[in-house]
Amino acid sequence: MQRLIEYRYDKPLHHQLMKAAEYSMLDIDVLILIYHMAKICQGGVLEIGSFLGASTVAAGLGIRASGQEKKFVSIELGGQLKDHRLASKDICKDLRKNVSRAGLLDGVNLIQGSSFDGKIIAAVKDRFGPREIGLFIFDADANVRRDIDCYADRLAEGCWMVIDDYISATHKAGPIRAQVDELTGQSKLMQLGLYGWGSWVGRWLVR
Ligand SMILES: C[S@@+](CC[C@H](N)C(=O)[O-])C[C@H]1O[C@@H](n2cnc3c(N)ncnc32)[C@H](O)[C@@H]1O
Repeated sequence: MQRLIEYRYDKPLHHQLMKAAEYSMLDIDVLILIYHMAKICQGGVLEIGSFLGASTVAAGLGIRASGQEKKFVSIELGGQLKDHRLASKDICKDLRKNVSRAGLLDGVNLIQGSSFDGKIIAAVKDRFGPREIGLFIFDADANVRRDIDCYADRLAEGCWMVIDDYISATHKAGPIRAQVDELTGQSKLMQLGLYGWGSWVGRWLVR
C-alpha cells in the first residue's frame, strides 16, 4: 500500500494511469498495482480480458519502467459492448487504439480470441516456455480456474496473480471467489489482499 501511495505522487505516471482509468472497469488502485507488479515481476506477463486496454496499458508502462525485455501477451475476445458507459462497437479496434496512443503497441502481443480456444492456448505456449510467466492478470468471465488450468505449466513459482471479481456486483463473484478460495485452501494460491472494487491479488505457489 505504501508503494501504491508513492506512485500517486509520481505526477506524470499518475496522470497516465488516471487517463487509462477513464476507460477501465478496474479501480485506479488495481491499475497502479498492475503497473507495480509488471515492473518488479521476474518473467513475462499474461493478461486475459484486456477490454479497452486500461490494464494492458498499466502493465505495459510497468514493463517499460523495469528497463527489461519482458514478453507480454494480452488476450481479448472482442465484439461489442452495448448499453454501458464504456460501450464499444469494436472492442479490439478500441483496444489497439488505446494501446497505440500510450506508445505501447510494440511491447505487447495482442491476441483476439478466447483464452481457452486450442489455437490461442498453443500460441501462448509457443510464446512462453515452462514457468516463464511472472504476472497473470485475469479479468474476463466467471471461470478463472479453467484458464489457470490451461496455463499452469507456464506460471512461475511465486507468479503474481491479479484476479478480478472476487467481490463484485456481477454474476462472476460467486464462482470466482469459490475457485480462488479452493486454490488457496489447496495452498496453490496465497492471498496478499483485496483492492479496488474486489480484485484479488496474490501469488501462485506451485513449483
Ligand atoms: C471486465 S472486462 C476487462 C476490463 C479490463 N481489464 C480493464 O482494465 O478495463 C472483461 C473482458 O474480457 C473479455 N473476455 C471474456 N471472456 C474471455 C475469454 N475467455 N478470453 C478472452 N477474453 C475474454 C470480454 O470480451 C471483456 O472485454
